Amino acid sequence: MQLKNDLLLRAAKGESVERTPVWLMRQAGRILPEYRKVRESVSGFIELAQTPDLAAEVTIQPVDLLGVDAAIIFSDILVIPEAMGLPYEMVEKRGPLFPETVRSEADLKKLHVSDGSELRYVTDAIHITKKALNGRVPLIGFAGAPWTIFAYMVEGHGSKTFSKAREMLYTQPVFSHKLLQMITDSTINYLKAQIESGAQLIQLFDSWAGILGPDQYEEFSLRYISQICDAIDTVPKTVFAKGAFFAREAMSSLSCETIGLDWNMGIAESRRLIGDSKTLQGNLDPAALYGTPEQVAVAATRMMDEFKGSRHIANLGHGVYPDIDPEKVKVFIETVKNYR
Ligand code: CP3
Repeated sequence: MQLKNDLLLRAAKGESVERTPVWLMRQAGRILPEYRKVRESVSGFIELAQTPDLAAEVTIQPVDLLGVDAAIIFSDILVIPEAMGLPYEMVEKRGPLFPETVRSEADLKKLHVSDGSELRYVTDAIHITKKALNGRVPLIGFAGAPWTIFAYMVEGHGSKTFSKAREMLYTQPVFSHKLLQMITDSTINYLKAQIESGAQLIQLFDSWAGILGPDQYEEFSLRYISQICDAIDTVPKTVFAKGAFFAREAMSSLSCETIGLDWNMGIAESRRLIGDSKTLQGNLDPAALYGTPEQVAVAATRMMDEFKGSRHIANLGHGVYPDIDPEKVKVFIETVKNYR
């Protein structure tokens, strides 16, 4: 299937593009009334993610309604622990919850490395989405980075500090490495299954990168991200490590094409630290979209000016907040598309 719009893939590979491609992390979700309607037709987020026809429908909504240059498959990073034997719940207004956690060798024995087969509902959704997209835009697959997945599996829920997960790195480093390796192997199998089903670029989300110091980040996160990047060589890879400003130079040695920036990372400084051999993705503050349409356009233009036409995929610096007006999202997207 020939892509009608392959700007994202060309920008990722550093090839020339007529204009900068744009998409948003969390573009499929509660900002869209059309998403909320589909979600209300089922018991909740998990049933939606596990129903391939509906997952495909909400994956495509932002392509139709917002005009983004990529779709990202509707799922969650927490499907990997579930596939390994640790189920999660999504508690309304509170977020994810693991009724059981993993804190000892005995807990570890109850888990297995996923070969990807438990996640048939995701690969089925990818097949359906690809067919329905009919080559309009590329489809992004994704997974959590092993450290972020480890943090949820040990802690059991979201946290500002993830102190239980960080405690483990100090008190049980051998156990920590064992669990991280199991997550890594499962993630590689899962991403390969996504690619076989039709994902054309993959992104790793290390949402809790920023709570580790540089040495621990190298040992407990980058090492595993690096294994994943090396294992996947058929599609371009993006690594988004939120808050890992201290690791930007080290990340330039990863075998990935694109590094995601959050809005705390200066653009010129990031380019200096990472070099010219990677595409940078990001990085407008998601809160900038609370401004007036005029302010959103000014902020988006300033961001584009700062990237100075170098290898760039436009995005926010983190996921779009659920209470943002979709009209402001459209202003962001249109400003990027009309930028010359
Ligand atoms: O980007 C997309 O549009 C694709 C879908 C996607 C979701 N989650 C759907 C979702 C992606 C890429 C994710 C990744 C994800 N999930 C991350 C990494 C990115 C980041 O934000 O840092 C993390 C940390 C999670 C874990 C997670 N899932 C949390 C903390 C929450 C609750 C917070 C919230 O927004 O309610 C979720 C739930 C979730 N994942 C929703 C969606 C659309 C909201 C569920 C709902 O419809 O109520």
